[in-house]
Amino acid sequence: MREAAAAEKLPADGVAIPAHVAIIMDGNGRWAAARGLPRIAGHRAGAQAVRRTIEAAIRQNVGWLTLYAFSSENWRRPLPEVIDLTGLLRHYVRSEVAELHESGVRMRFIGDRSRFDADLQADLRAAERKTEGNTKLNLIVALSYGSRAEIAAAARRLAEEARAGRLDPASITEDNFGGGLDTIGIPDPDLILRTSGEQRLSNFLLWQGAYAELLFLDVLWPDFGQAHFAEALAEFARRERRFGARPG
Ligand code: IPE
Ligand code: IPE
Ligand code: MG
Repeated sequence: MREAAAAEKLPADGVAIPAHVAIIMDGNGRWAAARGLPRIAGHRAGAQAVRRTIEAAIRQNVGWLTLYAFSSENWRRPLPEVIDLTGLLRHYVRSEVAELHESGVRMRFIGDRSRFDADLQADLRAAERKTEGNTKLNLIVALSYGSRAEIAAAARRLAEEARAGRLDPASITEDNFGGGLDTIGIPDPDLILRTSGEQRLSNFLLWQGAYAELLFLDVLWPDFGQAHFAEALAEFARRERRFGARPG
């Protein structure tokens, strides 16, 4: 599971480390196709990359790691692949929670979990409860997640409050609107990274990522490892963040 020590490049003192790294884990299907394997083989190999990435985040002192594992649009994939993916997810959550807990990882899930089977929903809740006191790494897994649905749901709740007379529309601000999203209590991502070479966000953290640095890597997700994570942090450290406030 561990890679050669040579691959671990810890940042030097004084180098900016992103507090929150969010990853669009893409390219499992292409990885499998290149080997003449079924897509599920790519998803299984992708689960190994998830382990390596969590280890890398812990080692590099990244406090928050969000992984986009299944989008609200991924339900449109052929049913056999959806069944394979939810089966893998159930297996992953059941088999990994104990070890993640040992490592001090706090797990949270964002997205519309009501679309999953009741037993998987129960596993997700159990993982969140078991790990809620951990502080080494905050791991957020986006499942059946779509930013637009998340934003629309937040708007709907505010509209209902206003209709009931409990909320003055004039009091709605960026802060309290953001507090109605699934990511309440989670800092905005500093770095959003996507593997597979595609350069798009695919409905991921559209509100939260307003000022995230974007990084698109040519590696397919199952090949992603500690060295890529270190490379991403090094690239982040080279970026100059301005937040609109400072001319060049
Ligand atoms: C990412 O890999 C995993 C999920 C979206 C669930 P893909 O399955 O999208 O792989 P490609 O993009 O077809 O290679
Ligand atoms: C984005 O990947 C979703 C996840 C990685 C979970 P997709 O493969 O579903 O995105 P598109 O279809 O290429 O935009
Ligand atoms: Mg894809």
